[in-house]
This record gives sequence, structure tokens and C-alpha cells, in this order.
Amino acid sequence: MKIGIACDHAGFTHKENLKNYLKEKGIEVNDLGCYTEESVDYPDFAHELAKSVQIKKNDFGIQFCGTGNGINMSSNKHEGIRSALCWNTHIAEQSRLHNNANILTMPARHLNWNEVKEIVDVFLITKFEGGRHERRVKKINIS
Ligand code: RB5
Repeated sequence: MKIGIACDHAGFTHKENLKNYLKEKGIEVNDLGCYTEESVDYPDFAHELAKSVQIKKNDFGIQFCGTGNGINMSSNKHEGIRSALCWNTHIAEQSRLHNNANILTMPARHLNWNEVKEIVDVFLITKFEGGRHERRVKKINIS
């Protein structure tokens, strides 16, 4: 499995921890930045991650900004990207089961590292249910 990760300055610490955590699990990680805690613009990183998932360079994306909202909104401008803003394990599980989310977005300033790990674990092991949800997911795209 290949996973792309991204963040803005608010998510930098969680993104760095996540990189090590995923590598320890034997997962190939593509770190798309940012690379320091210096202030940056979250769309720049969201768009690169979304493109990498669109072209299947990465199977999934995981990203952070302070609230999760800005980076999530940016990703969801890309056709075929279903970025889910998740702040607990139940929402993360549902985002895979029902929405076939391909990017997991988390609010870095509102989660501790243990919460992030639990959310990531659930997101990565949960499979899309298909069935009636397939029909609904197909209706998301408007172009
Ligand atoms: C950065 O201060 C903050 O605005 C950003 O991380 C995010 O919360 C935006 O949605």
C-alpha cells in the first residue's frame, strides 16, 4: 500500500509522527510536505496530495491542517477525490464503509497523537461496503 501525506504548518508535528508510524508498519509513504513549521498555505499541499491520489501514485492520502476544514475543502475540488474530515474513529470507519473516502483529513489542533493513530488505523483497515453506497458515491460527482 502506498500512502501520500500532507499538511500545513499546524499539522506538521502529526504529519511527521504519522510518517514514522506508517513506515514502521511497512507502508510506503510519499511525504508531500510541508517540511517545517513555517507558515504556509494549506491549498498548495492539498492539491498536490489530491493529484497524487487521482493518478493513483498513492492508494490513499492522509492530511492535516489546524481544523481540517481548509485542506479538506481544497482536496474535494478534485474530481474523484472523496476527502473525509474525521475527528473520531466512528466517522473514519463510516467514511470508508459508506463514502469510499480516498483521503483522510484530520484537525491537527483538536486531536492528540493517540487519537490520530486510532483514526488512521480504522481508516486503513475498513473496506467500502458497496451496494447502495456505490450508487450514492457515484452521484457525488457533478461534472
Ligand atoms: C492555519 O492557521 C489554519 O487556518 C489552518 O491550519 C486551517 O485550520 C484552515 O482551515
